[in-house]
Amino acid sequence: MKDQRKRGPKPPAAVGKTGHEWDGIEELNTPLPRWWLWLFYATIVWAIGYWVVYPAWPLVATYTHGVFNWHARSAVETALASLRTKRRPMMRRLGAASLQEIASTPELLDFARALGGRAFADNCAPCHGAGGGGARDYPNLTDDDWLWGGKLAQIQQTITHGVRSDDPKGHQGDMPAWGSTLKPVQISTVADYVRSLSGLSVEPGADLAAGKKIFAANCSPCHGPEGKGNQQIGSKNLTDDIWLYGSDKQTLVQTITNGSDDVMPAWGQKLDPVTIKALAVYVWSLGGGEK
Ligand code: HEC
Ligand code: HEC
Repeated sequence: MKDQRKRGPKPPAAVGKTGHEWDGIEELNTPLPRWWLWLFYATIVWAIGYWVVYPAWPLVATYTHGVFNWHARSAVETALASLRTKRRPMMRRLGAASLQEIASTPELLDFARALGGRAFADNCAPCHGAGGGGARDYPNLTDDDWLWGGKLAQIQQTITHGVRSDDPKGHQGDMPAWGSTLKPVQISTVADYVRSLSGLSVEPGADLAAGKKIFAANCSPCHGPEGKGNQQIGSKNLTDDIWLYGSDKQTLVQTITNGSDDVMPAWGQKLDPVTIKALAVYVWSLGGGEK
C-alpha cells in the first residue's frame, strides 16, 4: 500500500498542525487571515458602540434608549416636519388662491393635483376607486356626468359638506321608495319607460305610454319632465345611460321600489381647507370638470 501522505500538496511549513490524524489525514491549524480577523473584531466593537448609542436591548418594561435617544416615530415626525416646511410656501399660495386661480396657474395646478391625488388615495379611493372611476353605488368622478355639479365650487361644496351626511349644509334629497305608493305592475311599467329614456331595449309588450304617464305624475317633479335630472336635488339624469345602481330591469325595479339614500361623507371636519381645495381641483381635473 502506498503512503497516502505523499499525495496532494504539501502544507506550508508555517502552518501548524492540531495533532489530530485520521487514517493518515492530518488536521492543519491554518490561522485565519489577518484582515478577516481584524474585520471580525471591528464588527464586535461596532456592535457594542451601536448598543450604546441606539436603542438596543429589551428590558423588563422598557428598553435601552441609547445615548442618541433615536426613535423611529420621532424620526418620521422630523421627516414630516421638514416636508411641511418645504411645502409651506406652496401651501400658503394654495390657501390664498381662488379655485379658478389654481386651475389657471400651471404651477399651482400641478401642486394641487399632486397633493389632491395623495389625499384622494388615502380618503376617497376606498369608495370611488383608485383613479376615481367609481363602482356600483359610487359615482364615477372622471366622466362629465354630475349628480351635484361639476364646477370647481360645486365639487368643493360636495366634498366639504357631503351628501345626506351628518352635515346640515350637505346636499339633501332622496330617491323615495315607491314600493308602498305604486303597484308592482306600475313599477315594472315605469322601469321599462326609464330604460327607453336611455335608448335601452324594453320588454316586448311594454306599455311605454302608460309608463310615461306614471313618470309624469310621480317622477318628473324631481327628475324633470324629460328625465334629465336636477343637480339642485341630485336627482339622476335618467337619459344618459350612466347608472349609479344599474340599468337592467331587475335593478331598476329594485331601485324604484326601495329608493336610495347613499351617503357621501362630509370632509369639512376631517380635512383642512387647503387639502379640500386640492381635492376639488384634483377631482375636477380627472376629466369631467366643468368651466
Ligand atoms: C363612504 C364612501 C365614500 C367616500 C369615502 C367618499 N365618497 Fe364621494 N361619494 C360617495 C357617494 C355614495 C356619492 C354619491 C352620493 C349621491 O348619491 O348623490 C359620492 C359623491 C361624490 C361626489 C359628487 C359626484 C357627482 O356626480 O356630483 C364627489 C365630487 C365626491 N363624492 C368626491 C369625493 C372625495 C373627493 C372623497 C374623498 C375626500 C370622497 N368622495 C369620499 C361615497 C363616498
Ligand atoms: C323626491 C325626488 C325624487 C322623485 C320624486 C323620484 N326620484 Fe328617482 N332619484 C332621486 C334622487 C335624488 C336620485 C339619486 C339617488 C342617489 O344618488 O342615490 C334618484 C335616482 C333614481 C334612479 C337611479 C338611477 C341610477 O343611476 O341607478 C332611478 C332609476 C330613479 N331615480 C327613478 C325614479 C322613478 C322611476 C321615479 C318615479 C316613480 C323617481 N325616480 C322619482 C330623486 C327622486
